[in-house]
Amino acid sequence: KALDVIVVGSCMTDLVSQAPRLPKAGETIHGHKFFIGFGGKGANQCVQAARLGAESAMVCKVNHKSQWLTIVTSSISSTFYQTSNAATGAASIIVNDAGENAIVIVAGANMLLNTEDLKDIQASLSRAKVLVCQLEISPQTSLKAMCMAQESGVKTIFNPAPAIEFLDEEFYKVSDVFCCNESEAELLTGCPVSTVDEAEHAGQNLLARGCGAVIITLGPQGCVVLQAKESTSKHIPTEAVKAVDTTGAGDSFIGALAFYMAYYPTVPLEEMARRANRVAAVSVQTMGTQISFPFKKHLPSALF
Ligand code: RIB
Ligand code: NA
Repeated sequence: KALDVIVVGSCMTDLVSQAPRLPKAGETIHGHKFFIGFGGKGANQCVQAARLGAESAMVCKVNHKSQWLTIVTSSISSTFYQTSNAATGAASIIVNDAGENAIVIVAGANMLLNTEDLKDIQASLSRAKVLVCQLEISPQTSLKAMCMAQESGVKTIFNPAPAIEFLDEEFYKVSDVFCCNESEAELLTGCPVSTVDEAEHAGQNLLARGCGAVIITLGPQGCVVLQAKESTSKHIPTEAVKAVDTTGAGDSFIGALAFYMAYYPTVPLEEMARRANRVAAVSVQTMGTQISFPFKKHLPSALF
């Protein structure tokens, strides 16, 4: 079976505590709920694409005893690289009563996915429609996967998260869509990004580095979409919802975008972004990351 959306990226075990607010340095506070979930930006994006109906595959590295093997293979058609000498990545997440979060990741086995491992997926990758990469694995591995995809004419989405200040310029050149949030755009451009105007300005700056298109997500303000071929930037607003947990909302957006790029390639990018905003808006209304991502059957048919 053809794997239309391939994610080369991270798997993490999410350790989530809900608390009234985020603690200060040196402070202990009482939280009201704890749970363990499946996360990692790569896996989250892959699962969201799969839940919308994409034939998707995840290329990642986890500990050999990890439950990831059974869980993820049941929801997506996966390609797995195991390792026995490193722990599966873990994310300590605190979610406050406003649905905001603070996250520390320890990437563990994710960092051991290397460019050699990519040789095994060369054939599948060259036949895919969309490749998605992030920065929770080694940047060289992400960049190599993106270059391989571009050489085969596979569309690429790059999510520079978590952001690093000095990103290899090659990443921009191999990104058909470069998609980040406001804080990542700030770090990459050195410009403030809190308003739509500022996002459009930062977007122009990123676009000039060579990407086909730039999308900056702005939470409740929706997103801005800039395309090299149009030299215009468009603000795509989103519906107001009551956010319970915004963790992984960006991943839900990117997974949805990958689905639309693979299956509705003629829909304008702004329309894909508008629909992806709606998918992500569903995810923020319940707790958790992957567990809160909607399935096609629960979404309005106008999105398909
Ligand atoms: O984007 C949200 C994700 O970031 C979480 O699932 C966590 O695993 C971290 O990687
Ligand atoms: Na959620």
